[in-house]
Amino acid sequence: MDVKKIREKFAELYGGAGAVYTSPGRVNLIGEHTDYNGGFVLPGAIDKAMYCEIKPNGTGRVRAYALDLGESAEFGLEEADKPAQQWTCYIFGVCREMAKRGKPVQGFDTVFAGDVPLGAGMSSSAALESCFGFALNDIYGLGFERFEIALIGQATEHNYVGVMCGIMDQFASCLGKEEHLMRLDCRSLEFEYVPFNPEGYRLVLLNTMVTHNLAGGEYNQRRASCEQVVAAIAMRHPQVRLLRDANLHMLEEVRAEVDATDYMRAEFVIEEIQRLLDACTAMERDDYETVGRLMYETHAGLSKKYAVSCPELDFLNDVARESGVTGSRVMGGGFGGCTINLVRDELHDAFVARATAAYKAKFGIDAKVYDVVIRDGARKLA
Ligand code: GLA
Repeated sequence: MDVKKIREKFAELYGGAGAVYTSPGRVNLIGEHTDYNGGFVLPGAIDKAMYCEIKPNGTGRVRAYALDLGESAEFGLEEADKPAQQWTCYIFGVCREMAKRGKPVQGFDTVFAGDVPLGAGMSSSAALESCFGFALNDIYGLGFERFEIALIGQATEHNYVGVMCGIMDQFASCLGKEEHLMRLDCRSLEFEYVPFNPEGYRLVLLNTMVTHNLAGGEYNQRRASCEQVVAAIAMRHPQVRLLRDANLHMLEEVRAEVDATDYMRAEFVIEEIQRLLDACTAMERDDYETVGRLMYETHAGLSKKYAVSCPELDFLNDVARESGVTGSRVMGGGFGGCTINLVRDELHDAFVARATAAYKAKFGIDAKVYDVVIRDGARKLA
């Protein structure tokens, strides 16, 4: 990403210069749709990020310019000032959530841009929220911890964007660490950094270029399904507050009482939480063949039971299996975006060539390829 372009635009629009911050997108090795169910996730921050230049302007208003869209906006900081364009809601929401926590920000000028592909399952929205959360916290000396900034980003999604997401994406963007994944327990919010340097393997993302918009409602419906099942189980087992607290036996007990679709979705989540734990155990003994097998199981579950895949993602998953790739699955919220592939070094080039050619032949679309590099989370650049 060329930060110079942001700098030039900032000087042109507002005169002078501000401070520059960045916050990255993320990958997730395994553990999908588990975060809002209190389960575990295993994300890492990547080398694709959002960047903003920012400077207080001494007024009560924000002037913002989205360089990638060529769009500008101006808005106040009171609740009633909520702007119309979707991208402005992320910035406005972060400011409001800070104010709600007793630490209001003042007006500022900003230009931002990024190279996290939008709607590709790599958390462009979380990167944007975390970038502004981190930047505003720093320039106004608000004293929020990184984890609180992540929670501010998540609350922005809930209250100003309309996606009832979990904490994984904002957490990874704010707390990422180079060459490490993070095993986060989304119930206790305890986490540990897991060194990730799988010798002999590489992680590569294939972007179907089918973009999703999680605000479309399907994501929230998945969450609602899980909550319905929890409510049914809690009638018998009051200690169960999240699917994390349940097991397959408890689920079976309520089979006749819950909707068949909700049942299947809950079954996926309970299995997925266990799969992540199994994958972590396998990683401890560098057994990436087992990790890969579990990734394929995750894909099958996300496709058949959780129903968040699409023909394009299923196709790329099939090509990966047929090519002998160790592990492959849809990554992130789903409904489009990327597959994440764990592939042996010597197979990497042939697999990428085969998958992109087959994908083009089948769908007429050029899939984009990203080799994953695990980087640090939110930080100040200049
Ligand atoms: C999106 C959400 C996350 C998580 C994933 C699925 O990325 O923002 O909170 O639920 O989907 O694992």
